[in-house]
Amino acid sequence: MAAGLTAGCTSDSARPGRHAPARGATPVPVPATGRHQAGITLPQPAQPHLLAVVADLGAAVAPGPLLADLGQAISTLTAGTDRRLLGLPPGDLTVTVGVGPRLVRTAGASLPGAADLPRFSRERIAPRARGGDLLLQICASDALLLPVVAAALLDQAGDRIRERWRQSAHRGAHVSVGNGLTAPRNPLGFLDGIVGPHTAAEQRRDLWLDGPPAVAGGTLAVVRRMELDLPRFAALSVAEQEAVFGRRRTSGVPLSGGTAASGPALGAKTPDGRYLVPADAHVRRAHATVVGVGLMLRRSYSTDEPAPGLLFISFQNDLRTFTATLTHMDASDALLPFTTTTAGATFLILPGFDRRHPLGSRLFG
Ligand code: HEM
Repeated sequence: MAAGLTAGCTSDSARPGRHAPARGATPVPVPATGRHQAGITLPQPAQPHLLAVVADLGAAVAPGPLLADLGQAISTLTAGTDRRLLGLPPGDLTVTVGVGPRLVRTAGASLPGAADLPRFSRERIAPRARGGDLLLQICASDALLLPVVAAALLDQAGDRIRERWRQSAHRGAHVSVGNGLTAPRNPLGFLDGIVGPHTAAEQRRDLWLDGPPAVAGGTLAVVRRMELDLPRFAALSVAEQEAVFGRRRTSGVPLSGGTAASGPALGAKTPDGRYLVPADAHVRRAHATVVGVGLMLRRSYSTDEPAPGLLFISFQNDLRTFTATLTHMDASDALLPFTTTTAGATFLILPGFDRRHPLGSRLFG
């Protein structure tokens, strides 16, 4: 799954897809400051390379000064003025910072982001790869930047943090799916990231936290590394693969017809009474209306190491959007038997920052 939808050039502009740079064009810088952090709705489409670093804070470390330092480093790194970039042009570099439930609870037990991610089926997660205090999501068009920027941020944090796990991941070319939307393919060959909160109104409703003030403008991230059984999926016929998802592999069009962007007609049946989108198809089991939740912004990337799969990343303003969806999928989703989750965590993505409001200052100031 992944999200890749293109939504305009600012998070508040409406229609997806219009400003996608041509592949190979010089990447357009993405402002690090603003109401929301970069790397969620911007840039559009998402950059092709990602490195996620998850770390813990030392027991006596105050989160406020650490986050302010990281925000300052993000400003100089994205501006290209940080000598730790070693002269590399930052291009469309974004760094998105989240804090884990343990830290959020120190600021308020009932704040969004204070709850841990529950356990689900088909997990094989080592203790080290479950949870964490700090997420650094680094994205860029230039893959060379990722370890350099990670090293600079870890240098900035010094011995205040201890790295737990990291994952690099990539996404292929975006394909137009109509309605001004684009999405990349995932390692199973399917277009991934079609459905999500793409308009400004949907983002206000389902993506951004609107309060309390300490978190307004932030959102909640779920990050899960899912290994995929590619040989077993590839052994299926194309029709069987399409039945797993409920969409056509080439075009992303739902098995109920229409266009990729129009969404599946879940009630549509064959003349002999069978659902065109099978009962256990992923798009039915994960459908927001069926589950009774809001839309999640999926912005996933494909992995190679330690195994082929997906680094599933979703952003939503209610953790239940994710947990209720996966619970509904757990009961019977034809996709799940092809997956094993080997890392997982949730983070409160801090509101955006600027010179006057350092990163994290509204939560830990
Ligand atoms: C490796 C695992 C996964 C893969 C390969 C995958 C792939 C896909 C694909 C190809 C689609 C259809 C196109 C689209 O709308 O993007 C889709 C839809 C969706 N997926 Fe996943 N997905 C995975 C796991 C998950 C998980 C863990 C969740 C959340 C718990 C999830 C939530 C959704 C949602 C909400 C939709 C939109 C359904 C709709 O309204 O049509 N997916 N996924």
